Amino acid sequence: MDPKKLIEETISRVSVFKRKEVLYPEYIPPSLPHRENQIKQLAEYFKQIITSPGSSSIKVLAVGGVGTGKTVTTRVFGREFREFALRRGIDLRYVHINCHRNRTLYEVVTEIIRVLNAPIPLRGFSPRELTQFLHEYLDKFNIYLIVALDEFDYFIETSGSENVYFLLRLYDEFPNWSKRINYILISRDYYIVNRLDSATYGYVVRNIVKFSPYKSSELKDILTERRDEAFHKGTVSDEVISYIADLEGHDHGGSGNARASIETLLLAGEAADQENSPVVKIDHVRKARALVTPDVIVISEALQNLTIHELLLLKAIIEVLSKTGAPYISIGEAENEYRRITSAYSKEPRRHTQIYEYIMNMKRMGIIETRPSGKGRRGRTTMIGIGAAPLESLKKRVDELINKIVSEE
Ligand SMILES: Nc1ncnc2c1ncn2[C@@H]1O[C@H](COP(=O)(O)OP(=O)(O)O)[C@@H](O)[C@H]1O
Ligand SMILES: [Mg+2]
Repeated sequence: MDPKKLIEETISRVSVFKRKEVLYPEYIPPSLPHRENQIKQLAEYFKQIITSPGSSSIKVLAVGGVGTGKTVTTRVFGREFREFALRRGIDLRYVHINCHRNRTLYEVVTEIIRVLNAPIPLRGFSPRELTQFLHEYLDKFNIYLIVALDEFDYFIETSGSENVYFLLRLYDEFPNWSKRINYILISRDYYIVNRLDSATYGYVVRNIVKFSPYKSSELKDILTERRDEAFHKGTVSDEVISYIADLEGHDHGGSGNARASIETLLLAGEAADQENSPVVKIDHVRKARALVTPDVIVISEALQNLTIHELLLLKAIIEVLSKTGAPYISIGEAENEYRRITSAYSKEPRRHTQIYEYIMNMKRMGIIETRPSGKGRRGRTTMIGIGAAPLESLKKRVDELINKIVSEE
């Protein structure tokens, strides 16, 4: 075909999408159907900050499976509750921290300081000292905080119970302080609380907000709102929406995961565009579903929290695995490829101990698997594999994330 025509057709090709970004995970929708009760409960629990500020530090556990709206609901609650407090003359700040990204007590405390833009020097101080400075700052400017610790289970696992106790029982240690810091602890299940001692447990489990998997009818409402914003009118029928909602709905044996449903809708739209179809058809949904397995959903969320060096390392692992076709590769092989890639991106490679740390992190997040080397290799080394997603689709996402970070640097 005439290249001129080819280019023109590609550029001017119509898409079913009007605003695709509405379907991306970071988008916050204007309304949250079927999470009214959770927002009410949160408001009830945190009411005291407004009625008698400083009297107690409130802790709420938000618990529910993947894609049940924990993150988006707490974010929206935080934003609205701050507005409400402000109108009543209370400077309440909401800080949402993802513990996949901020993994240690030090990182959590410095992240709070960073978000508040508080003039506190970070270098050379322990997390305890920094927490004291933070509290002095809150006192001085009469600020209250709700800190949401998202993926809190991960924080317990990586930073240990001592640090959890320090955060949650701060006011036991400093009983004279006015109670300015409150928490929403977000977790996928209750098992984490088993790992805390009974006193801390009592702190955490007194207030629980539960997020159940969505039913088909609920997913239908969520998907309909997204469709209306994301797609051109008439390109996605109610039938297509119901089809996705029925596949994913908990009452129909599905996972009840809104993220999976929205991602299916996104990929179905992309499949329609690829075929130049003016509408999204049921078969496009089938194609999309083949790509949206539960593991892929968990991984794609975790990927967003990786640092640039972790992403480069993951890219290296993917490339060696696909080049060799082997089920597992050694850390050494991954590291060599990683060095090559970092130099291609003009970055200074991290040291071996740091790389080992990255690998353990990605393992805990469920992105990669590791096992000790078997026979036939000299010495003991860690072997790395990827079992949860096809390498090609994983590579595509990793490359997108790397390019995004690099272009923003
Ligand atoms: N009630 C809802 N209304 C609209 N969108 C929702 C709702 N619940 C979840 N979502 C969307 O589904 C996806 C997953 O929600 P998220 O809050 O990240 O789940 P979780 O944190 O429980 O894994 C996000 O894109 C979110 O915007
Ligand atoms: Mg979440």
